[in-house]
Amino acid sequence: MSSKRFLTGITTSGTPHLGNYVGSIRPSVRHSLDPDVESFYFLADYHALIKIDEPARIQRSTLEIAASWLAAGLDPERVIFYRQSDVPEIPELTWLLTCVIGKGVLNRAHAYKAAVDKNTSAGEDPDADVSAGLFMYPVLMGADILMFNAHKVPVGRDQIQHIEMARDMAHSFNYRYGEHFVPPEAEIEEDVATLPGLDGRKMSKSYDNTIPLFAPREQLKKLIASIVTDSSAPGEAKNVEGSALFQIYQAFATTEETAALRQAYTDGIAWGDAKQVVFERIDREIAPMREAYLALLNDPAKIEAILLAGAAKARQIATPFMGRLRHAVGLRDLRVQASSKAAKTAKVAKPVFKQYRERDGKFYFKLMDADGRLLLQSTGFDSPREAGQSIGLLQTQGVAALAGLADKLQPNAEVDAKDINTALQLMTDAE
Ligand code: TRP
Repeated sequence: MSSKRFLTGITTSGTPHLGNYVGSIRPSVRHSLDPDVESFYFLADYHALIKIDEPARIQRSTLEIAASWLAAGLDPERVIFYRQSDVPEIPELTWLLTCVIGKGVLNRAHAYKAAVDKNTSAGEDPDADVSAGLFMYPVLMGADILMFNAHKVPVGRDQIQHIEMARDMAHSFNYRYGEHFVPPEAEIEEDVATLPGLDGRKMSKSYDNTIPLFAPREQLKKLIASIVTDSSAPGEAKNVEGSALFQIYQAFATTEETAALRQAYTDGIAWGDAKQVVFERIDREIAPMREAYLALLNDPAKIEAILLAGAAKARQIATPFMGRLRHAVGLRDLRVQASSKAAKTAKVAKPVFKQYRERDGKFYFKLMDADGRLLLQSTGFDSPREAGQSIGLLQTQGVAALAGLADKLQPNAEVDAKDINTALQLMTDAE
């Protein structure tokens, strides 16, 4: 088996744009060529239902995104490339995870909180127009990831919280039912740019400031010409800081090309000329893929066949795994007697300590309750033994140990002190 499993999904809610290409499609395709990586790429069409209630748009977007990935060089023979809704084990797992994640954790999800804040400041009911689907979004995403026990999930910063929640779900489930899931990690690619859009804000469907990845050449040229710039005249030196045009160029150009444009800015290149340079550079990278893309769009049967073959591969993993998970939680063949050992693991769920090492080389631990909610967070220790000693004190003395460890522990401010005490009590009782 390969050493690492990468997994990434794109919600099928729109037409892919240059931001998706630079931020997700291009790096994913590069990753997929790494022989040590087993990768999973999927079209998150169940996620799309959360935002979109136009069936034709979902279908069209699924076709366009699949064609984009293939045109950009994803090889469905090397990777597992599928459509989420072709793998029924994913929604099935979603329910199992729903039952181990705290509702309070989901209350804190950024997307849900943003909707609630918006309603509240508009004087509406906090949950006005918020579907339960939006609320559950992170659980479905957790199922996407845990279904295949992906180690690494390359995502943008806005998705880190979702990965953290998937880790929590993995821990909570493992705690109750035994080690089934690998807690995934977000892989933030430092050299992958967040592309600004036409108006200089992040390129995003929701800002309506995107450049479609496979816009025809003429349209691409027009759109690039419409990127905001300041009003400096030809001959006047221009600033690369804060120039959306420059940032977009940088995401496509080599270091030398970028340096040359930087110099041209200093020398006072006219905005019209700079835009021409940017357009030609992007078109050079996109044009060959555009051909492949158009050919694929005209052959939906081919894409459908590729996706179904991908789903069959995905289910070779998902179906047996789901069988083990069903058994683990007690959805079982009645003829098979539960062993007494298995019955024992069904005892009251306890809080747990998690130990880990951070990039700074130090050793940390945290206390989570049975729902995966963070209760206490330690500072960094120089050795695992020192971290272990503090854990030992908490396990044996419970609440009484808190005062002595005050400088080493940070209670989660969002949790009642009472809940932390209860957890520590449970900890000592259960020994
Ligand atoms: N939430 C992701 C997005 O909006 C899409 C997504 C769904 C995803 N499931 C996933 C990404 C699992 C990575 C892993 O872009």
